[in-house]
Amino acid sequence: MEEAQLQYEYIEKAKKIVREKAEEKGSKLTCCVVTFGCQMNARDSEKLSGILNAAGFEETEDENADLVIYNTCTVRDNANQRVYGRLGVLNGYKRRNPRMKICLCGCMMQEPSVIEKIKKSYSFVDLIFGTHNIFKFAELLVEMYEADGMLIDIWKDTDQIVEKLPVQRKYPFKSGINIMFGCNNFCCYCIVPYVRGRERSREPLEILSEIRALAAEGVVEIMLLGQNVNSYGKNLKNPVSFAELLRQVEQIDGIERIRFMTSHPKDLSDELILVMKNSKKICRHLHLPLQSGSTRILKEMNRRYTKEQYLLLAEKIRREIPDISITTDIIVGFPGETYEDVLETIDVIRKVQYDNAFTFQYSKRTGTPAAAMENQVDKETVTKHFDEVLSVVQHTAKERAKLLEGLTMDALVEEINEHDESLVTGRLSNNMIVHFKGTKELIGKIVPVFLKECRGFYYFGEML
Ligand code: SAH
Ligand code: SF4
Ligand code: F3S
Repeated sequence: MEEAQLQYEYIEKAKKIVREKAEEKGSKLTCCVVTFGCQMNARDSEKLSGILNAAGFEETEDENADLVIYNTCTVRDNANQRVYGRLGVLNGYKRRNPRMKICLCGCMMQEPSVIEKIKKSYSFVDLIFGTHNIFKFAELLVEMYEADGMLIDIWKDTDQIVEKLPVQRKYPFKSGINIMFGCNNFCCYCIVPYVRGRERSREPLEILSEIRALAAEGVVEIMLLGQNVNSYGKNLKNPVSFAELLRQVEQIDGIERIRFMTSHPKDLSDELILVMKNSKKICRHLHLPLQSGSTRILKEMNRRYTKEQYLLLAEKIRREIPDISITTDIIVGFPGETYEDVLETIDVIRKVQYDNAFTFQYSKRTGTPAAAMENQVDKETVTKHFDEVLSVVQHTAKERAKLLEGLTMDALVEEINEHDESLVTGRLSNNMIVHFKGTKELIGKIVPVFLKECRGFYYFGEML
């Protein structure tokens, strides 16, 4: 039997179990899905919500629920620490609600040391699974309710891509779409290839039909997701380039904005720049992770480009698409990094003039080559260098933001402003945020907004 069909049968079984428990309780069972990490995890969580919803749970934001699932991230150690901290709180809830089930999944669970720690110190957890078998969530749910004690199912790898399971989207008007899974790059600080497995691309026809279905449901903005979208399609039986995929996505009626994440500089083609330049729908935003501006460190990191190659690429993109915003990721404190290396990074930030940059302190990930390097930089030096990089990043980002003050741009209205109910929050094509007077009826609409005042990293505007 086809895997998806099998999982639909498990959803039916789960429904029955959930219905019985709800009768005992006297009301619907509640569930809470908590996401750590990147867009890819956020999309996976929508799949978890889809299954839970189909099984009859009512979703809540409150972690004091009948089922809580943490979809975890392990890219930096602080993500792991947050999970352990919050598990303690969940244990308190569970003591008062014996019906409560606690589930863990996602990248952190692919690490054997994490599983050992949870078995030893967090024995109240009911279900653990990983990134490769998330499509079996319905089946695991049923098994969890039938088991006593902790159920653990972790796969080392998979080549399966299971399509067409239920999905519960967080936003009605925008959606992420996986175009590929895993990563083959092995940047030597990074744990992602170990916890997400080898790179696998989805068939273009599957992607296009999913996007058409989303458009039919009213989605206007999509984000194509992959750890390195620029290498999309290279390993398919009939290879397709990422630029070609974008061309086809552009044809889909109803889709008005196309975004993608993430672009590895080493694989960014001229064809892609051309497609972006000529597109009416692809957003004026490119996230182009630099990691370091020092060619020596880039080589150590196994990034496979030099400072000069990166600068030439950024220049070419700015020349071809002048209204584009370029954002980046930077790691400070990679083993062996000196102040001279940090100055090279700062030089790139000044030259490229990033519209925004996520700056991270290097975090040692067990199992990666960088973790075994002997020249780890001490915490105090890292903090000092980090603060310096951050202040340059913030300065250039503010300068860039100021340039758009006084212009009128289209914004997709995403939500009512968190702090002021008379305002709505919209996103510009370049990914910047604007707040302006408006009501909830505007949510999901693209409207022209005058960018009246720049407040650092966002704007106050007026809808025209
Ligand atoms: N595939 C994406 C990145 C995914 S991880 C890419 O290559 O661009 C997101 C970001 O986390 C990375 O860009 C990097 O800046 C950061 N990161 C990854 N491993 C890290 C580590 N060990 N310590 C600190 N930051 C790290
Ligand atoms: Fe990690 Fe590098 Fe792959 Fe990005 S490209 S996920 S940084 S190994
Ligand atoms: Fe984290 Fe996994 Fe994404 S480690 S950054 S959630 S791929």
